[in-house]
Amino acid sequence: MFRCWGPHRGWVPCAPTPWLLLSLLVCAAPFGLLGEETRQVSMEVISGWPNPQNLLHIRAVGSNSTLHYVWSSLGPPAVVLVATNTTQSVLSVNWSLLLSPDPDGALLVLPKNSIQFSSALVFTRLLEFDSTKVSEGTQPPGKPYPPYSLAKFSWNNITNSLDLSTLSTIFQGHPVDDPTGAFANGSLTFKVQAFTKSGRPAQPPRLLHTADVCQLEVALVGASPRGNHSLFGLELNQLLWGSSPSGFMQWRPVAFSEEERARESALPCQASTLRTTLAYSLPHSPIVQAFFGSQNNFCAFNLTFGAPTGPGYWDQRYLCWSMLLGMGFPPLDAFSPLVLGIMAVALGAPGLMFLGGGLFLLLHHKQYSEYQSIN
Ligand SMILES: *[C@@H]1O[C@H](CO)[C@@H](O)[C@H](O)[C@H]1NC(C)=O
Ligand SMILES: *[C@@H]1O[C@H](CO)[C@@H](O)[C@H](O)[C@H]1NC(C)=O
Ligand SMILES: *[C@@H]1O[C@H](CO)[C@@H](O)[C@H](O)[C@H]1NC(C)=O
Ligand SMILES: *[C@@H]1O[C@H](CO)[C@@H](O)[C@H](O)[C@H]1NC(C)=O
Ligand SMILES: *[C@@H]1O[C@H](CO)[C@@H](O)[C@H](O)[C@H]1NC(C)=O
Ligand SMILES: *[C@@H]1O[C@H](CO)[C@@H](O)[C@H](O)[C@H]1NC(C)=O
Repeated sequence: MFRCWGPHRGWVPCAPTPWLLLSLLVCAAPFGLLGEETRQVSMEVISGWPNPQNLLHIRAVGSNSTLHYVWSSLGPPAVVLVATNTTQSVLSVNWSLLLSPDPDGALLVLPKNSIQFSSALVFTRLLEFDSTKVSEGTQPPGKPYPPYSLAKFSWNNITNSLDLSTLSTIFQGHPVDDPTGAFANGSLTFKVQAFTKSGRPAQPPRLLHTADVCQLEVALVGASPRGNHSLFGLELNQLLWGSSPSGFMQWRPVAFSEEERARESALPCQASTLRTTLAYSLPHSPIVQAFFGSQNNFCAFNLTFGAPTGPGYWDQRYLCWSMLLGMGFPPLDAFSPLVLGIMAVALGAPGLMFLGGGLFLLLHHKQYSEYQSIN
């Protein structure tokens, strides 16, 4: 069940309407970040040669603002988001410092006083649950197998999949240590894509994007599950910062179990409650420390894909899920709350998590029939 953080009231159950979501985010978005029609987007792999670490810089310049997204697979996969109120801001990386045990200050966005907002998201673990003998809708969805720590994955060289025509690249990884050979034929991929203007991809879940966002598609392909009925999930970890919610993650509560993304292969995607991580340790991200210093005000949540019955990863050893990550305010898909539901997590505010309408309807398979009406 979703809950959200009320500043003075503690944890309260909530399911705000899309209007509430809209008004909160609009009020909180700093001026100058209220969406730009188009941006000049550059995507660059910053080389730390000869070290083999991936660092991807997306720089999106608008008429009076620049957004920076820095993705890396140094440590667990992570992204640092920074919005500035100038067209001139730049990223500066000190590799020797970044690779040192204490990377504070190794990533800078300059000039510092142009920064309007910054946050970070870290993908800490790939989860696997045994969903046999589990009834639908329970959380967690079965007995957990030991999770795969994404900090202990080895990743490809993203330069080789960098495609400047589609502004995308792919981080493809597998566990460094794989004693059972579960990933002998498998991998986990993070496809990152940026956009120069708004639009909607041809493939479901067809999330409406703007020039202010990055899209991430996570896919697990070909890895051997540890049971006959394994459900997979991801643990995400966001850095809390400041007081105004002006960054977001947005997704439809659906994943797919086939490359051909259709109603028949749609799986429900569920999010757990947000938990602060003061009480438990998660792998730390060098790029987050490099930008923010040593902070520990993180909160984490789990996403799980699939249900004990219906289609699943077991059909084709395939699972794919998409989300948008952005600054300013999320693209408003006028009709989707009615059709499929949109979930959003505000980044930057202590634990604000919003939930658009329609989610609960959605988790019943019969509702997927309406899915195809999105065009
Ligand atoms: C930034 O540019 C947008 C669009 O051109 C404009 O509406 C807005 O007023 C500008 N903001 C500032 C702070 O100049
Ligand atoms: C990654 O690939 C590019 C292009 O093939 C190459 O120039 C670069 O040196 C590689 N990086 C590493 C760390 O191997
Ligand atoms: C990078 O950081 C190191 C300290 O680790 C420092 O000695 C060096 O001067 C820095 N390089 C630049 C270009 O600032
Ligand atoms: C990997 O693929 C090969 C060839 O298709 C197959 O023989 C082998 O059993 C597979 N290994 C696993 C762990 O699935
Ligand atoms: C998986 O299914 C097979 C055949 O149905 C069965 O023999 C095996 O014991 C099952 N494995 C587990 C871990 O449940
Ligand atoms: C995510 O799930 C794993 C496995 O059940 C659990 O150990 C972990 O505490 C969960 N994380 C959060 C943030 O709920």
